Amino acid sequence: MALRTIREDGDEILRKRSREVVIDDITGEKIQSLIDDMIETMHNFNGVGLAAVQVGILKRVVVIDVEDGNGPYVFINPQIMKTKGEKECDEGCLSFPNQFGKVIRPTEVVVEFYDRNAKKKKIKAKDLLAQAISHECDHLEGILFVDKVLPGTLEYVTPEE
Ligand code: NI
Repeated sequence: MALRTIREDGDEILRKRSREVVIDDITGEKIQSLIDDMIETMHNFNGVGLAAVQVGILKRVVVIDVEDGNGPYVFINPQIMKTKGEKECDEGCLSFPNQFGKVIRPTEVVVEFYDRNAKKKKIKAKDLLAQAISHECDHLEGILFVDKVLPGTLEYVTPEE
């Protein structure tokens, strides 16, 4: 495993659409080590989620860990099939290390995806997991949380020395 460099605010790759992973490639070494590296990188920077585009790979791979005892989750080619509810959420992003704001996210999502063993799955997620899935799926389309941040709520926090 290895830490990967996180692409930050202003890097044009963050605006690109990520491509579907070929199902037969999921269990191959390239995608498996990408997943391992993404999990390590997310944990290292205390993130809740990370999309492959954030480490410079335009593939539809997402990792999430909301510390609910079931993670880290791996979503390959995720598709949000249904959403329910709306909630004003506090949000940040590893690509915007010092920025936080409030974003409206669904309280519940139904998502279809492939897991890292190339098994097709469908889960219903709530609360923080639903928020994270919504945020990370936006990354796959080149959409960033700052696009959706509620006016006047974006804060810049000076990093600790
Ligand atoms: Ni993000």
